[in-house]
Amino acid sequence: MAAFINLELYDNSDFDRGAPRWKRILWVLVRCVFFQNPCPWGSAFRSALLRAFGAKIGKGVCFGSNVNISFPWRLAVGDHVWIGDDVGVLSLAQVTIESNVCVARRCFLCTGSHDFRREDFKLKVAPILIRRGSWITIGSLIMPGVTIGEGAVVSSGSVVLKDVPANCLVRGNPAAVVCEILRSPECAKASVAVSRAGVPDKSLSLSADAAAGLDR
Ligand SMILES: CC(C)(COP(=O)(O)OP(=O)(O)OC[C@H]1O[C@@H](n2cnc3c(N)ncnc32)[C@H](O)[C@@H]1OP(=O)(O)O)[C@@H](O)C(=O)NCCC(=O)NCCS
Repeated sequence: MAAFINLELYDNSDFDRGAPRWKRILWVLVRCVFFQNPCPWGSAFRSALLRAFGAKIGKGVCFGSNVNISFPWRLAVGDHVWIGDDVGVLSLAQVTIESNVCVARRCFLCTGSHDFRREDFKLKVAPILIRRGSWITIGSLIMPGVTIGEGAVVSSGSVVLKDVPANCLVRGNPAAVVCEILRSPECAKASVAVSRAGVPDKSLSLSADAAAGLDR
């Protein structure tokens, strides 16, 4: 019989943390004082702290309280990005957030997992990319290896396991495309008309509900 998880065998000594031990310890202290607590420390000040620890942070980036970033040296954030209260960024692999992205409260960007088929519960990591002008709404979970396309919206409480095409609204667990977001000068409103052109292989495709809506 195949053995199940045996945590005694867990060994992540080959995992590259990307920074020396002293830097990781110092970051934990800085994180506790200036990030993971309810004090409203200024965002410009916290951006500067993150840069000092190797993050690339653009201008006009706003941080809420109790933001938990594991490795700032694996974080790149563009200009005018909002990162809400209680957001978690498990940046074991690179996390890139392009400009004009809103990551709402209680979202979690998760770059790490484990191979549960292996007895040694091997760590696996993969990067996350959130393209410009997208909105990750409240309480959503973005899983390892996922790219959120530009202008996309992830509905509250979604669990995103696959790439989200640009300008699409997704929702649910696992997240599925609800519709394309059509933005016009008069009215930026969502439509059930979905263009599937240019959708990468790994991307989410139209949900059964949305497809049924299109047939009507
Ligand atoms: C994605 C979102 C913007 C959609 O808003 P909307 O276009 O106004 O949509 P509506 O609220 O009118 O809902 C439309 C339908 O989607 C459903 N729906 C909305 N959000 C949903 C979600 N997160 N999961 C599942 N279904 C959802 C509604 O029940 C409704 O279904 P119905 O047509 O069967 O009645 C909104 O649901 C959301 O997630 N807001 C984010 C809030 C947030 O993050 N706040 C923090 C501020 S930064």
